[in-house]
Amino acid sequence: MPRKIAVTSALPYANGPIHIGHLVEYLQTDIWVRFQKTCGNQCLYFCADDTHGTPVMISARKAGISPEELIGRMHAEHKADFDNFGIEFDNYYSTHSEENRCFSELIFNRLNSGGSIVTRDVEQTYCEKCRMSLPDRYVRGTCPRCKAENQYGDSCEVCSATYRPTELINPYCSTCGEAPTSQTSKHYFFKLADFEGKLRALIAGGYTQQSVANKLDEWFQTGLKDWDISRDGPYFGFKIPGEENKFFYVWLDAPIGYMASAKNYCDRHGLSFDEVWNGADWELYHFIGKDIMYFHSLFFPAMLMGSGYRPAKKLFVHGFLTVNGEKMSKSRGTFIKASTYGKHLNPEYLRYYYASKLTDGIGDIDLGIDDFTGKVNSDLVGKYANLASRSGPMLRRKLDGRIGRLDEQGAELIGKLSAAKDAIMQDYEELKYASAVRTISALADEANRYVEQNQPWAMIKEDAEKTRAVLTAVINAVRILTIYLKPILPAYAAKVEKFLNVGELKFADVETVLEDHEINEFERLFERIDRKQVDTMIEESKETAEGQAEQSAGEQSAAEFKPECTIDDFAKIDLRIAKVAEAEAVEGADKLLSLKLDVGGVRRSVLAGIAKAYKPEELVGKTVVFLANLKPRKMKFGTSEGMILAAGQGGKDIFMLTADDGARPGDEIH
Ligand code: MSP
Ligand code: ZN
Repeated sequence: MPRKIAVTSALPYANGPIHIGHLVEYLQTDIWVRFQKTCGNQCLYFCADDTHGTPVMISARKAGISPEELIGRMHAEHKADFDNFGIEFDNYYSTHSEENRCFSELIFNRLNSGGSIVTRDVEQTYCEKCRMSLPDRYVRGTCPRCKAENQYGDSCEVCSATYRPTELINPYCSTCGEAPTSQTSKHYFFKLADFEGKLRALIAGGYTQQSVANKLDEWFQTGLKDWDISRDGPYFGFKIPGEENKFFYVWLDAPIGYMASAKNYCDRHGLSFDEVWNGADWELYHFIGKDIMYFHSLFFPAMLMGSGYRPAKKLFVHGFLTVNGEKMSKSRGTFIKASTYGKHLNPEYLRYYYASKLTDGIGDIDLGIDDFTGKVNSDLVGKYANLASRSGPMLRRKLDGRIGRLDEQGAELIGKLSAAKDAIMQDYEELKYASAVRTISALADEANRYVEQNQPWAMIKEDAEKTRAVLTAVINAVRILTIYLKPILPAYAAKVEKFLNVGELKFADVETVLEDHEINEFERLFERIDRKQVDTMIEESKETAEGQAEQSAGEQSAAEFKPECTIDDFAKIDLRIAKVAEAEAVEGADKLLSLKLDVGGVRRSVLAGIAKAYKPEELVGKTVVFLANLKPRKMKFGTSEGMILAAGQGGKDIFMLTADDGARPGDEIH
């Protein structure tokens, strides 16, 4: 009997782009889902954008659009990124949906009538100027313990103290800088501790990996606290039933979004949501990263159990992505957006590379840039594609494109390859993709050795039929390896299916051999990676990351100020008046203008990301503010010797700071 399986990945926030860190999760899940489908199981993959909360509300305000419009744009962007990486959701929905509102209210009402919701007055920080209550992270001030300045409202980065924002000394709103007031407001709380027994039993029953269970044990030891699930308006989210200006905290409705996505799918496909989500026939699994364990191992299952739903069968937690052993970094260019990657490299390379690193553990996954290019070239090109290119073209050209029968030696090779099936399937099922890839690549080595031993290119001159038998074995090896790789490399598998002239391959097909069969024309499967492509991608991530840094710095001035700098720090900056002497477009870079500046007799060349906002000719003669002692930066399009100052969000919304009323080139700015 085929299994019936429903799977979710965490819902990405709608306030930012998908990056290669996120992709660890969506690829891990997609590979698992595709594996299940290749086994002939029914498997549905649900996800959605996580749309509610303060950051989305503030970003929309700043962009001068409604939150609905903002999340609409992000949804389309996210979906395009996922499509490009072959991540095949059965439904990619939104938490800002009627289904989600219904489930959120239903679950809240049931928890409420079960006595698990209480209200309590809470002292909260409020900004009169922004007219909103401030989440902890949007208040800053002096740490009440160590007196470090500019600390967040919930914890101090210097002494690690945790506290309430109302305890900060000299607090200020990080959006507008105003001192917040404090107000008392009724909040709703979910009594998590009511579910301690049930949660412990759930975990003991194998809901999570052991390493996660250990972490949970610590949390049980410290004691489960009530969870504040309401926020005062204005807030982008769902209103709490019976309240005028109170909303569900985003983390209440976010996981319920899994249900909304499933419900929306079921309604459109004639399936019963209750069966899929809660029925005995269906297995449900969640995939998440380790940073959101608390929500998925405690809050969400407790909410479900308290409202008549069963929790998932298992929660699969993965670690975080590092690049070259370090956290992704905008300045190093390793904070790579999915869309940037897609411009330069084949998404299947990353699918394969991540698979080759993923285990069932929660340790971090490192993307080593050299290792990545090496592995792609040696495995994808050197092993899998090579095997096909050493057999297909010769068969077509010299042997009428027909394979014949396996001889004894060929049958032995194919026997070895097919014998690995159960172990590989088990590895996939248990999320041990790295182990599966090791096995598959060793089998590919074996098949390539077989080719070298038999030398079909020499044999063909003497014995055509014997060569046909050898190539029959090679083609069968390609077929089996492709089945094994299909969950990881769906586009590659589709090409091979076409070339082999077979239908959609499934794991069960490993048991049969292909004989007396005509194959199609061979199509190139993978291109080698040239290190330059990777470098360009990283270089471009630096540029856009900087654009983003500027942008998020812009957002930050709304969301939070940067940590303070001293007057000495400031004195290091040499700001000068400069006159734009020449300005021209940069070929191949639609955001950049190349400027020649006159800085009081000294000439400087600058590449400025302002092409969307200004035409070169309107700049010539303008007097601008110039950062003169910025270390020159080599960029793809030349070296930039400094930076001109501008305000705004980026793109068209950039306003150069000018000083056209009397300041002279070279003047210092004080
Ligand atoms: N919106 C919440 C999840 C709500 S689920 C009901 C959220 N969004 S997120 O966009 O920050 O992250 C989405 C998923 O991607 C999370 O599971 C997170 O752990 C994962 N990752 C985000 N950055 C990551 C890395 N750098 N590395 C690996 N996974 C990462 O959390
Ligand atoms: Zn404010």
